[in-house]
Amino acid sequence: MRALGKSGSITQLLKTLGTLSPDERQTKGPLFNGLRERISTLISERKDDLEAAVLNARLATERVDVTLPALAALVGAVHPISQVMDELAEIFANLGFDVAEGPEIESDWHNFTALNIPPEHPARAMHDTFYFPADPAGERMLLRTHTSPVQVRTMLERKPPIRIVAPGRVYRCDSDATHTPMFHQIEGLVIDRDTHMGHLRWCLETFIKAFFEVDAVTTRFRPSFFPFTEPSAELDVQCSWEGGKLTVGQGESWLEILGCGMVHPKVIAACGLDPAEYQGFAFGCGIDRLAMLKYGMTDLRAFFDADLRWLRHYGFSFLDVPTLSGGIGA
Ligand code: DAH
Repeated sequence: MRALGKSGSITQLLKTLGTLSPDERQTKGPLFNGLRERISTLISERKDDLEAAVLNARLATERVDVTLPALAALVGAVHPISQVMDELAEIFANLGFDVAEGPEIESDWHNFTALNIPPEHPARAMHDTFYFPADPAGERMLLRTHTSPVQVRTMLERKPPIRIVAPGRVYRCDSDATHTPMFHQIEGLVIDRDTHMGHLRWCLETFIKAFFEVDAVTTRFRPSFFPFTEPSAELDVQCSWEGGKLTVGQGESWLEILGCGMVHPKVIAACGLDPAEYQGFAFGCGIDRLAMLKYGMTDLRAFFDADLRWLRHYGFSFLDVPTLSGGIGA
């Protein structure tokens, strides 16, 4: 201000240039202008220094020690979906299943073709797929529409006997009260030499009893169709809605729980195994709906609203890890 402002000393000096003789202007002009430039550089340097000092002071006072122990009252809760995923992993671990994973950005081959859904198959249209732009070779990656590609990846990577579950996020271009564009599934896969549908039925009933924490369940297989299983079935579980409260296991109504079947020989062959030697079963189940059924939530969208009141109400303590002995839904 004092030097460069309207009536600042340098501004005044520069103004005198007009009154000088051409010769003097030749020498004084560059001198005064140089002076002005140096002063403005010094000012902006000083400004930068001061700003850095303010920032450093803030960083020093507002430092967070991430190693401090958390106060239970201040930390968040375990989301019901994470809780249910932990419960499922625990139940299946007790049945001898490993947890497998696959990428959410998947190739068309893993998500469809290897699962006996070739490019012209009508099942592709039902999947409402999110595609990425095609690469120069015309290949389009996609957001996986189900967890079934993890079956393919597991068979390609491991030797039988295989027993895995694969929980994770899946994506479909769909949104209303019962559909969100991102949701969760768990896939199961068993591949061995002499696996049959009886094993599948027992395995699923054991899982449902453990998950819903009941001693007995009555289930039924309804014939269905999936390109990657033959035969295919949907599993229903008896339930009752007495007094508006759902009880799973026995009752006059049926709940649809999941899709399943014997892995199609074409899928086994696409994954490099000999279908004459190996067979097995697979199942796929929506996790969000399982959570809603077990913990009594009514609107799927609330899962993803990040509403703290909802999370406090439905969330779980991170100290209550689900175990079969300690309680699955503790
Ligand atoms: N992938 C199917 C879907 O998202 C669910 C499914 C059905 C998975 C049957 C399976 C199965 O492994 O055997 O609709």
